[in-house]
Amino acid sequence: MATALQAVRGMNDVLPDEACAWQRFEDTARDVFERYGYRHLRVPIVEPTPLFVRSIGEHTDVVEKEMYTFDDKLNGDSLTLRPEATAGIVRAAIEHSLTYERPLRVWTGGPMFRHERPQKGRYRQFHQLDVEALGFAGPDVDAEQIVMLARLWRALGLDGIALTINSIGDADERRAHRAALIEYFERHRSDLDDDAQRRLHANPLRILDSKNPALAGLIADAPRLLDGLGAASRAHFDALRALLDEAGIGYTIEPRLVRGLDYYNRTVFEWVTDALGAQGTVAGGGRYDGLFEALGGKPTPACGFAIGIERMILLLHAEGATRVTAPDAYVVHVGERAGVLARRVAESLRDHGASIVLHAGGGSFKSQMKKADASGARLALIIGDDEASVETVAIKTLRDGGEQVAVPLRDLHARFAALNTSKDEYGCL
Ligand code: HAM
Repeated sequence: MATALQAVRGMNDVLPDEACAWQRFEDTARDVFERYGYRHLRVPIVEPTPLFVRSIGEHTDVVEKEMYTFDDKLNGDSLTLRPEATAGIVRAAIEHSLTYERPLRVWTGGPMFRHERPQKGRYRQFHQLDVEALGFAGPDVDAEQIVMLARLWRALGLDGIALTINSIGDADERRAHRAALIEYFERHRSDLDDDAQRRLHANPLRILDSKNPALAGLIADAPRLLDGLGAASRAHFDALRALLDEAGIGYTIEPRLVRGLDYYNRTVFEWVTDALGAQGTVAGGGRYDGLFEALGGKPTPACGFAIGIERMILLLHAEGATRVTAPDAYVVHVGERAGVLARRVAESLRDHGASIVLHAGGGSFKSQMKKADASGARLALIIGDDEASVETVAIKTLRDGGEQVAVPLRDLHARFAALNTSKDEYGCL
């Protein structure tokens, strides 16, 4: 026998039993985003490597260690599986001049790739829903996105996701802060790990989001950008806070929150749960006013965030908020005439929006009923040649006592609707 192959480590299958949670999450999110006027777009999964180097930053974990990069066999161009979506969206906006006439709210979703060490909530292929407001200087739109996320958590029935915000200032303030950080970490050089030593002069801000616990104390005492904000950044941050207060959204200001990607300025934020252990950040984002120019576009202020879908699904499971998909009914049929009626009935109920599994592959009533039970359907429709000859269908409830009634065809839709009551709008039991 040939050896069975396995998926690549850190890249997971989403199996049918999990589909309901994914669909419910994605449908709810899409509905919320669209209520705020965010429009859908899709960008490629593969982009030129320099796009990520220039946007995310050369001295970040993502670019230094985590990208899946390979050469195009035909022309030798360096290509990368996207580790995130913002860079591709900004590239597309520049390429198609999407935002120069008027600003644009967009969202996308799909797989992202980072070669990280896999653990619960951290994978090498993972999925994000990504939202961007392009051409808005804020802070109103910064607040809009945070409020929109709060609405999404509510719509999903999740509480206990906490908001953390910070401002990391503008270019000048960041330069001054950078100098202060270099001076501070130089004084503690012997305590730094290899990564931090290497980044000390190249990108000291990245030392602040080091995952090494041994550096935690040193990082806690490092100079804080929030203390050195200029007037404009300060006003932006204060206005954001006022808007969050107005919306009744609680938050913590975390001066150490710098995010792992280089393109941010001013507002940064994360939503964190403590129900998932170490990988508790379910969504993160912020403002990136300089990214369009860094990628060769016209100055275009912008703000966005991404949600980690696997972490959301874990959280929904942890809160007991997930169910599995099941059809409305399983159609059992034995006999030639019964088969004709079964196909007709199944198509007709599907025309009315029901999800119907028509038994395939023949077999006795008994063996087909076992399959009907196993399908999770609430109802079995049972048709033999006897029923077919008088245009009748037997409807049996497969749970709650298992009653069976004979229903003439003309009453089928009404009786079916009356009996098929236990599903939510996602078709989940
Ligand atoms: P990020 O913080 O790198 O931001 O990722 C956003 C979210 O994606 C994280 O909070 C987490 O939930 C999820 N995530 C990240 N890496 C993994 C992984 N290896 N496994 C599972 N989930 C993961 C960005 O990607 C930015 N592009 C967000 C943004 C949009 N900022 C502005 N616009």
